[in-house]
Amino acid sequence: MKLIVAIIRPEKLPQVVRALESIGIFPMTVLEVRGRGEQKGLTITYDDKEFKIELLPKIRLEIAVDDKNVEKVITVIQKAAWTGKPGDGKIFVIPLFDVVRIRTGERGVRAL
Ligand SMILES: Nc1ncnc2c1ncn2[C@@H]1O[C@H](COP(=O)(O)OP(=O)(O)OP(=O)(O)O)[C@@H](O)[C@H]1O
Ligand SMILES: [Mg+2]
Repeated sequence: MKLIVAIIRPEKLPQVVRALESIGIFPMTVLEVRGRGEQKGLTITYDDKEFKIELLPKIRLEIAVDDKNVEKVITVIQKAAWTGKPGDGKIFVIPLFDVVRIRTGERGVRAL
């Protein structure tokens, strides 16, 4: 099992959720976060003045998946979250040791 953590643009969330639904992936955790990549945020010019936004709003999506679904989930997220401009986000794939469904005590892939 893997924990897929995707940092995406907030406005892309509905599209990403629909794309995951289309391949049968329903459970997920969504967090509103702030972050920056290699451009160190964003500088905007307004009224001849420069304003620096150090940390931009992003969405962090967490999805625990069976190993057999990892590549499919990555492909679908990348496609749905893509604009081609800097700031599209990143997908992290983290080994997941175990999962417990609290209601039933099921473990591992049965608990996903
Ligand atoms: N190395 C990293 N570690 C932790 N979080 C990161 C990392 N890189 C990106 N992020 C997160 O992903 C968000 C989007 O990153 P972003 O897409 O700007 O990455 P990038 O490497 O700058 O690529 P690009 O050049 O396409 O913008 C950041 O705001 C941050 O929350
Ligand atoms: Mg960037």
